[in-house]
Amino acid sequence: MIKTVEWTDDGVVMIDQRLLPAEELYPLLKTYEEVARAIEDMVVRGAPAIGVSAAMGIALGVKNSSASSVEELDSDFERICQRMSKTRPTAVNLFWSVERMRWAFKSARREGASSDDIKKRLIDEAQAIHREDIESNRRMGRFGAALIPDQATVLTHCNAGALATAGFGTALGVIRAAVEAGKRVEVFADETRPFLQGARLTAWELAKDHIPVTLITDGMAGHFLKSGRVDCVIVGADRIAANGDVANKIGTYMVAVAAHENNIPFYVAAPLTTIDLKLNSGDEIPIESRSAAEVTHFRGNPVAPPDVGAANPAFDVTPHRYVSAIITDRGVAREPYDTSLRALFESKDEG
Ligand code: MRU
Repeated sequence: MIKTVEWTDDGVVMIDQRLLPAEELYPLLKTYEEVARAIEDMVVRGAPAIGVSAAMGIALGVKNSSASSVEELDSDFERICQRMSKTRPTAVNLFWSVERMRWAFKSARREGASSDDIKKRLIDEAQAIHREDIESNRRMGRFGAALIPDQATVLTHCNAGALATAGFGTALGVIRAAVEAGKRVEVFADETRPFLQGARLTAWELAKDHIPVTLITDGMAGHFLKSGRVDCVIVGADRIAANGDVANKIGTYMVAVAAHENNIPFYVAAPLTTIDLKLNSGDEIPIESRSAAEVTHFRGNPVAPPDVGAANPAFDVTPHRYVSAIITDRGVAREPYDTSLRALFESKDEG
């Protein structure tokens, strides 16, 4: 299994996703600041993986703290949480993770735990978040596999695989589960400009698993959706509003519109930790704007004339009317999402 991010006694180890597929390197990050920078610089990316990494970064920062009292540790902890929260704005899993670490810290303090105990409890909590993410992807896979027909061709955008999570993946987890259930599935992977998560990461993961994959440029998606060769679309999400609007990698919206136009189901696979019930609609989701250099250059080499301006919103919002179903780790939600998503939060976790 691909190891996206791992806790070790020496620090946090993560695969450097910027180098894939050419190089498979696993740097060891020894400080919380290194983890924060790794999230900002996309060493690690993908909503659930960002959440898991942030939790490990917080645990690492607190472990390294030289605070001489629990009160001092508390203020170090808060500073580390603030730093993690500033790394990337769109994926709500990051903020969910920080809140969960805050909850762990506060309950340890309420119980009168010593600094050493608090440090240990935060490491345990970060490891639990990691473990639960894999379990949640497995559950999502089971729910979602039922929606994939045998001999299906599935189109996906960006990377919502093992690399975007603690393991197995959300959208790719559904595809993996369908394959495990004996279905024959092939994938069309959008290359996903400008960071090329589809070309570099999705194609790499699927090829490793021997799941047939055809790489297409983003502009080809409409053509293939119209051609009758695609049975359904599955993507992940970075944040889903209470009404079912979905923020995901830039370009997802165009794919959803083209799928709708051609009567092809458009599925979103995401754990409940990606759903933000505090936001009524996708208009409220903060959209990260990244450096123009990611568009004008690839790995330091220019792909545009010098000094040309470039825009780089990292995500877009797909209105819920284009979303055929949202596959979560508690079950599958359909319209009206205002009620079906809330019902999933209130339902019992049947693992
Ligand atoms: O900018 P990224 O690579 O972090 O964006 C990732 C995506 O948009 C994924 O599709 C999303 O996080 C779902 S991951 C399971």
